[in-house]
Amino acid sequence: MAASDAARARAQSLKAELERHSHQYYVLDDPLIADADYDALMRELEELEARHPELVSADSPTQRVGGAAATQFTPVRHPLPMLSLSNVFDAEEFGDFHRRCAEQLGLEHLEFVAEPKLDGLAISLIYEHGLLVRAATRGDGTTGEDVTANVRTIRAIPLRLRAAPALIEVRGEIYMDKRGFHAMNARQEAAGLKTFANPRNAAAGSLRQLDARITATRPLTMCCYGIGQFDDSARPATQWATLAFLRELGLRVSPESRVVSGVEQALAYYRELGARRAALGYEIDGIVYKVNALAQQEQLGFVARAPRWAVAFKFPPDERTTRVLGIDVQVGRTGALTPVARLEPVLVGGVTVTNATLHNADEIRRKDVRVGDLVVVRRAGDVIPEVVRVVLEERPADSVPYELPESVPDQALAARVQAIIHFASRRALDIEGLGEKLIEQLVQAGLVSTVADLYTLTVEQLAALERMGDKSAANVIAAIEQSKATSLPRLLHGLGIREVGEATAGNLAAAFGRLERIRAASVEELETVNDIGPVVAASIAAWFADAGNLEVLEQLIERGVHWPEFEVAPAEQLPLKGVTVVLTGTLPNLSRDEAKARLQALGAHVAGSVSKKTDLVVAGEEAGSKLDKALALGIPVLDEAALEALLAEPARIKDCLTAPAADPS
Ligand code: IVH
Repeated sequence: MAASDAARARAQSLKAELERHSHQYYVLDDPLIADADYDALMRELEELEARHPELVSADSPTQRVGGAAATQFTPVRHPLPMLSLSNVFDAEEFGDFHRRCAEQLGLEHLEFVAEPKLDGLAISLIYEHGLLVRAATRGDGTTGEDVTANVRTIRAIPLRLRAAPALIEVRGEIYMDKRGFHAMNARQEAAGLKTFANPRNAAAGSLRQLDARITATRPLTMCCYGIGQFDDSARPATQWATLAFLRELGLRVSPESRVVSGVEQALAYYRELGARRAALGYEIDGIVYKVNALAQQEQLGFVARAPRWAVAFKFPPDERTTRVLGIDVQVGRTGALTPVARLEPVLVGGVTVTNATLHNADEIRRKDVRVGDLVVVRRAGDVIPEVVRVVLEERPADSVPYELPESVPDQALAARVQAIIHFASRRALDIEGLGEKLIEQLVQAGLVSTVADLYTLTVEQLAALERMGDKSAANVIAAIEQSKATSLPRLLHGLGIREVGEATAGNLAAAFGRLERIRAASVEELETVNDIGPVVAASIAAWFADAGNLEVLEQLIERGVHWPEFEVAPAEQLPLKGVTVVLTGTLPNLSRDEAKARLQALGAHVAGSVSKKTDLVVAGEEAGSKLDKALALGIPVLDEAALEALLAEPARIKDCLTAPAADPS
């Protein structure tokens, strides 16, 4: 039945009313009517649309969830890159940031907009003629994923703006507030489903659902903080006016943002919001300061992947107190004993912590951690939790200093097991299917005591072990066989020489080319290798001086382990010889060790800190004070793409060293 004028008019008015209430509720946090009344209006519209399908429009509040589940997310290239922010961690670093901006602009002090740094995921929303047409995640900043169907289910995001510029790209953060997060985890748990460690993971997991109907059940919300593409000449002239403009369009912006002038006001706001942080309904991990005037932003420009006109001033990492229930000792791959504190479970930064490493005997002595102590535990980012200090006032009167034992029962056995686990691991000899439990069995059964013994095993021996079928036994033997063809860096890494990790193994291989030459090298010769100091050099020399180790090495070779000679370019041919590079931040694709090893293979010196001697800085995400220092010293900065280009064509180094800091805009 065709819709009558009356039905059409009623549908229009219902849409408008539902939109207004949705805005009041989700954007302004100020509902005007009861939920039940809202639901009744929604039902009426649904019924009307069911009777007259031609009244359904894409921006109807009934159309937030729709369509079939996707099989994957389509990549979307951002017309303007989505940048990240450099970080500062204390007042001094913030002062440096302010001074740099002020000097470059020739001003005494600057006006900033301070915004809470929401801990969620960055999103880009494209509205054409007022209609939401595409939502994309940040991805690597250049290419993200199309999550439009999912984003449409988030009620704080209007499907239609209150004004209709031909094209506007809105940027902001999608996140989950603490209440929604806890309620959702409770629901998940009750349903026997996976729970999330923290609101950030929960938000990311919820947004990346292939079925938008699932996203629709998750309490996501969004706060907007900027404009990307905009076809209008009337772009607001300040960040503050931008926020007001976004609000007028019907978008949610943080009520906590402020204009601050100069360092003093900026720091005062940092302290103020920091004090209220725990009481906020959502998690923030710092404050973002943005130079207010757009004209000044343009003058300051960009470096690598971050604007020079903005900075994230991070809050200190989350710290909690808890009780030490016991101290256990673990045996490492080199046989070294590592003490681990067993803790009364405590939630730190959204993750339940039950263990914290105490590193070694020196560390325990220095911190004087004892069983029964109340300790401050910290988790910074994704790193392993650590004990920061003991709360001495709370120390039980009868506590005694902890002594790390010289040895533990079965230590030799445990060390053997650890050494073999390490040898077989993915980044060493990469023997698939040879896991920890199996290795333990092999060592306990006396079938294997060194890594070379692995190459004597037979299918029959394995199949006779507990929980081992013929099929799996054959698979493991095949994997062991396959591991025989390896590379020198993998072998060196796998041997478990103390202080020699993946990067050092790569350096050694690159510098000497052949195992024989490493074995014959003196401590002094070893020390000439990139990044190898006296301690590492001594440890390598000691390893090769041990008859038992040499025997294992010989057996490995006898039993068929082989590797091609490693190409060493004569020093004078190394294109990056004499170039000192510092890596900082997280690169989107390359691991830090990999980047380092590849730079070193070309002769570069990779240093740990930025100084006047630094030639290049490679900056990834969350690059902090090193990047700032590089900028202050005028050192060229590369992002990952530029680094890849350089690694592919090292002759480009001349351009890298002479070019001014990269400017992606
Ligand atoms: S502005 C040009 N403002 O932080 C600067 N980012 O490290 C681009 N974030 O990817 C970002 N709150 O996910 C900006 N008020 C805020 C923010 C914010 C959170 C996140 C965002 C971005 C990351 C940068």
